[in-house]
Amino acid sequence: MTILDPAVEAQLEATREARLESYLELLRIPSISALPEHAGDMRRAAEWIAAELGRIGFEHAEVCATPWHPIVYADWLHAEGAPTVIVYCHYDVQPVDPIELWDTAPFEPFVRDGRMIGRGAADDKGQLHMHLRAAEALFATRGRLPLNLRIVFEGEEESTSASMPGWLEANRDRLEADVVVISDTGFFEGNVPALTESLRGILYTQIDVSGPPADLHSGSYGGNVENPANALARIIAELKGRDGVIRVPGFYDDVIPVDAAARARLAALPFDQAAYLDRVGVPALAGEGDYTVLEREGVRPTLDVNGIWGGFQGDGGKTIIPAHAHAKVSMRLVARQDPLQLFERFREFVLQVAPPGVRVEVTRLGAGRPSATPVDHPVVRAAARALEATFGREPVFRRNGGSIPVAEMFEQQLGLTVVLMGFTNPDDHAHSPNESMVMANYETGIRTICLLWDMLGEHGLQGAASA
Ligand code: BES
Ligand code: MN
Ligand code: MN
Repeated sequence: MTILDPAVEAQLEATREARLESYLELLRIPSISALPEHAGDMRRAAEWIAAELGRIGFEHAEVCATPWHPIVYADWLHAEGAPTVIVYCHYDVQPVDPIELWDTAPFEPFVRDGRMIGRGAADDKGQLHMHLRAAEALFATRGRLPLNLRIVFEGEEESTSASMPGWLEANRDRLEADVVVISDTGFFEGNVPALTESLRGILYTQIDVSGPPADLHSGSYGGNVENPANALARIIAELKGRDGVIRVPGFYDDVIPVDAAARARLAALPFDQAAYLDRVGVPALAGEGDYTVLEREGVRPTLDVNGIWGGFQGDGGKTIIPAHAHAKVSMRLVARQDPLQLFERFREFVLQVAPPGVRVEVTRLGAGRPSATPVDHPVVRAAARALEATFGREPVFRRNGGSIPVAEMFEQQLGLTVVLMGFTNPDDHAHSPNESMVMANYETGIRTICLLWDMLGEHGLQGAASA
């Protein structure tokens, strides 16, 4: 059966306004994991969510302490014989800078033109909220769930999930499950329903270049003293060629070439390059010549400077050789690339290409491994059918350029398959000003979740793929 239970639909229809109020309430909590001054807000968000989980009908709702931000856990395990699914979302959000580019305050969310606007509306509090309300609809209509759920809502995803490996290890017994469903990805270009089959990994670094102990007069010393900003520019220029190829030795050793079938599947996606260019707002695209846009996003690694600073930044001119210069450099990784191993190679290369006359330090700020889902997994097939039934269109399979480090942790540490079923629109402005969630995706997505749980509960893992 791939029709949503009419009683569940009726409950959802009757609670639309209350749901909106609750969504707004969650978004008003400024749960920015990266900024120490928001530690209290992180705790408040975790407590708000745990209280909701308990009120809805989950058991063992707990705000679990970690070395940093809490993880919210809850479960309901009374569907004997039915599968057990871990649901993962994150309640932390990115910082809001540059604040002046927001149309309204980031933590005073509101609905405009069919979209919820506010930090976290899409990434990922909106999707977390969809799971809360979907479970609520099932509990409210039947007093039970059709399958067993374990909820894991994290607070450090936007800060590379540092506490996660330890928490997963310490909670192995609470994490016994058949599969993990993560809702932290989104639809394809044109807001076409999609399931994600792979995510890139990440290596995040900082390069610090220092020269003289203090800024020097550039007239007196220019030409004799190496300039840290020039040196940094030189280093950065060495990292990636004009052809888009990363020049760190061995960088591509563990990149598995994409086979013809995978390329063909990407090429078959309904991708409109002109619309993409227009949406992104740049004069032309860049990247490795031999690959398409979707290949560059999904199956090729890349390297980017995220920020660069040093020397004089004020109005007018100041003639100095700055004492130091800095850059944040990240790499997106694919296939078997290992961020820890690549960091050593990256560091060595940076030190090797640095000109003499400056001191260079390279620090690792974060790491996450790439991950992939077998697209023929029965829960992926069931999710595809649930999406088609609710959104009226068969989902496409996409390879996502973003990173969710915990996906690989669930796979490697706990041996679980991870299904990436997310509902955000491609123009959601995640991590940017005016982040938004299309309300139709949110509302219909809640139905998709309810239907998927029903399909898995009724037919079991294998049966749900075809029943
Ligand atoms: N939800 C995103 C991951 C994502 C991004 C999925 C784009 C699909 C498309 C997640 O919240 C995120 O932003 N992750 C960070 C990870 C990093 C901080 C370790 C990212 O990708 O930059
Ligand atoms: Mn996210
Ligand atoms: Mn994010």
